[in-house]
Amino acid sequence: MSGAGPGPARARAAAATIVAGVIAGGRSLDDLLASDTEDGAARGLRRSLAYGTLRWHFRLVAILRRLADRPPEGMPPSLSALMEVGLFQLLSGETPPHAAVAETVQAARELGHRRAAGFVNAVLRRFQRERETILAAVDADPAARTAHPRWLVEALERDRPGAAEAILEANNVHPPLWLRVNRRRWTLAGAEQALSASGFTSSRHALARDALRVEPPADVWTLPGFAEGRLSVQDPAAQLAVELLEPRVGERILDACAAPGGKTCHLLERVEGPCEVTALDISEERLKRVRDSLARLGLDAEVRAGDAAAPGTWWDGRPYDRILLDVPCSATGVIRRHPDIKLLRRAGDIPALVRRQAALLDAAWGLLARGGTLLYTSCSVLRAENEEVVSRFLAAEPGARDDTSRRTAGWPARLPTDGPGHALLPGEADTDGFYYACLFKRP
Ligand SMILES: C[S@@+](CC[C@H](N)C(=O)[O-])C[C@H]1O[C@@H](n2cnc3c(N)ncnc32)[C@H](O)[C@@H]1O
Repeated sequence: MSGAGPGPARARAAAATIVAGVIAGGRSLDDLLASDTEDGAARGLRRSLAYGTLRWHFRLVAILRRLADRPPEGMPPSLSALMEVGLFQLLSGETPPHAAVAETVQAARELGHRRAAGFVNAVLRRFQRERETILAAVDADPAARTAHPRWLVEALERDRPGAAEAILEANNVHPPLWLRVNRRRWTLAGAEQALSASGFTSSRHALARDALRVEPPADVWTLPGFAEGRLSVQDPAAQLAVELLEPRVGERILDACAAPGGKTCHLLERVEGPCEVTALDISEERLKRVRDSLARLGLDAEVRAGDAAAPGTWWDGRPYDRILLDVPCSATGVIRRHPDIKLLRRAGDIPALVRRQAALLDAAWGLLARGGTLLYTSCSVLRAENEEVVSRFLAAEPGARDDTSRRTAGWPARLPTDGPGHALLPGEADTDGFYYACLFKRP
């Protein structure tokens, strides 16, 4: 990884192209990596450079602004992205500095910026010389130091006072690999034994009963039991949705925003007998992944495309005993897994998301049987998308009762003033950030 040469330089050039695709192209990292099919030894390096650079982008660009004689926005996107990749390497310390500089300069040539090679060299060398002074100046600004957009730092300080700093830090930690054991096909003890026999260590989660944390991280298809549908990849925060939903045999259950199907599959794995599950999603394209997972895990559900906010177009009129409403959201709770969220999400996106979430909640409530439970979840940590949506709903709907605290005994403590539901903050219980509100419909 550290020797200078065409391979590593090409990996840096490829990483810069991916980073520029997010920064300047507004594309998601998942999409860009899905089309990055070139294999080979440099694949891991390319991906880790892309993730690391995007994770630290807001700090790296602040550094670059102090080093270069022109603003990064005025440079060709692949050139400024490449310099961020080079700075990331110098800061991460995983590559000897001389190799990081030499390979970044070579990568500039690979990207067609021949005449900028000297400029790249000068910028990176200046950083090496003035590193302490530059970092002290950059890190005086909390948004740059924690590598987050300013709007999000301010929103977290306002929404989660006392926890904002810990959230910002947790968002920059490389996330662990968490698996979910398919209870229909395996036990936790069986999975632990098989993983250990294959050289992995695993540990359980305090709250998510089907979760195993596995080290070292690996391509999941190489894990024992994965190809046989005994394991899935899922953060414990997502697994906790099913702990709270408490699905039972014989019930009619709607997963109203189901794709790609992680929670649909989990709830089916957990019910120890027949139940009638509908996995609904507005995106036919994304439902393909639900069908694939159901097939791999040996599970069965009705999978249908439809708008949960307009049930007249797909609902047969029979109420559901339980509804999982895992709303589309800002994804600000899963930044540690998707660092591109920091760049792609804007403050201005939130009001439209909130309107959509409230409309989905109103519509889904109308499909719930009396005595039934609706679980509202999101992978956002912003109060506007969580506590505030649910508070307004509860104020307008006397037939609804917040039942969350009864089911979250033993979870990290919350203050009564925190509002309805339960927000799990990133890193707090070794999980992503998530929000849950169990809403009971009075008989
Ligand atoms: C957070 S994701 C759901 C993740 C899923 N529950 C899981 O665990 O794998 C939100 C989903 O809501 C879907 N969606 C957005 N608006 C919708 C609507 N009006 N009706 C149904 N699904 C919708 C999106 O297509 C997306 O797949």
